[in-house]
Amino acid sequence: MLEGSVSHPLALGPTEEIDYLARQQRLTFARIGITDPLSIDDYRAHSGFCGLEAALQREPQDIVEEVKASGLRGRGGAAFPTGIKWQTVLDTPADQKYIVCNADEGDSGTFADRLAMECDPYMLIEGMTIAGLAVEATQGYIYLRSEYPLAKQVLDEAIARAEQAGYLGDNLCGSGRTFHLEVRLGAGAYICGEETSLLESLEGKRGLVRFKPPLPAIEGLFGRPTVVNNVLSLAAVPFILAEGAEAYANHGMGRSWGTLALQLAGNVKRGGLVELAFGTTLRTLMEEFGGGTLTGKPLRAVQVGGPLCAYPKASGTCRWIMKPSPRSAQAWATAA
Ligand SMILES: Cc1cc2nc3c(=O)[nH]c(=O)nc-3n(C[C@H](O)[C@H](O)[C@H](O)COP(=O)(O)O)c2cc1C
Repeated sequence: MLEGSVSHPLALGPTEEIDYLARQQRLTFARIGITDPLSIDDYRAHSGFCGLEAALQREPQDIVEEVKASGLRGRGGAAFPTGIKWQTVLDTPADQKYIVCNADEGDSGTFADRLAMECDPYMLIEGMTIAGLAVEATQGYIYLRSEYPLAKQVLDEAIARAEQAGYLGDNLCGSGRTFHLEVRLGAGAYICGEETSLLESLEGKRGLVRFKPPLPAIEGLFGRPTVVNNVLSLAAVPFILAEGAEAYANHGMGRSWGTLALQLAGNVKRGGLVELAFGTTLRTLMEEFGGGTLTGKPLRAVQVGGPLCAYPKASGTCRWIMKPSPRSAQAWATAA
């Protein structure tokens, strides 16, 4: 628990003693609410940079294999396998490659990317650095929506501290390997969350969608091979490298491995972020974690994926699985 937080009037007590938090399967959000976001010592004391240290001992292809074996799929919406995207960038020869983090988080009601960046910025920095080592990219950009001024402040400070501590820059942990990182602010256009318009915007142009092919993995930022990944996809990587692909893949069901950050909003008693392995039923999520409706009326409908998505078929066994559609699984409860 953060020092001094016990005396805060809104403090609820130690995280591990709060049932709602203790019953979650927090892999990505494990440190949140526990560590001081900007303290490198705190981050290290809670397994921080272990993934990077492991990655520095391995060949690029080995790192890509580990990510492939974890079954990690992009959390930005299309659920594309992250390891396969990285393989394409690794296999494409170029004098310069890039890692771009999509932190545009434009969908109404979503906030998981923001929480990860504001509360555990080194996790994203570490994930992007590992991605750089995996595909041989030496420059990264976080494309951050301009509506997130606190995230910008936290990330800028965390990048400066990580550089000073040797976790970013020209000599990562004394290895002689290089990775630089910068935050770039978006200009408030929803379409800039789409990866090719994002790249246009990052290049200083108007955010218009590019034709595909070529894929960004082959011709991306400034025409160079580029990994474009969502914040949560990159944030999952340190755990995978530190604990091994199997530890990640042991969560979930079917072809959906790992955990998902579920964002509850609307007429729900306990809105907020819940991290659970794929396979949890919608009823468990809404009743046990969301606490039912705020108004106390019966739960009649849940919109999965937020305003852009559909209503699932009414059934007590509807489970979260990875489908190419909801960018961030989010539920809206409506009580009739
Ligand atoms: C209109 C539109 C908006 C999008 N907005 C976002 C966004 O805000 N954040 C995001 O990560 N992906 C967004 N995407 C998906 C990205 O194009 C891309 O698939 C994603 O960044 C890839 O990362 P991933 O493989 O880690 O999911 C959007 C796609 C479309 C078509």
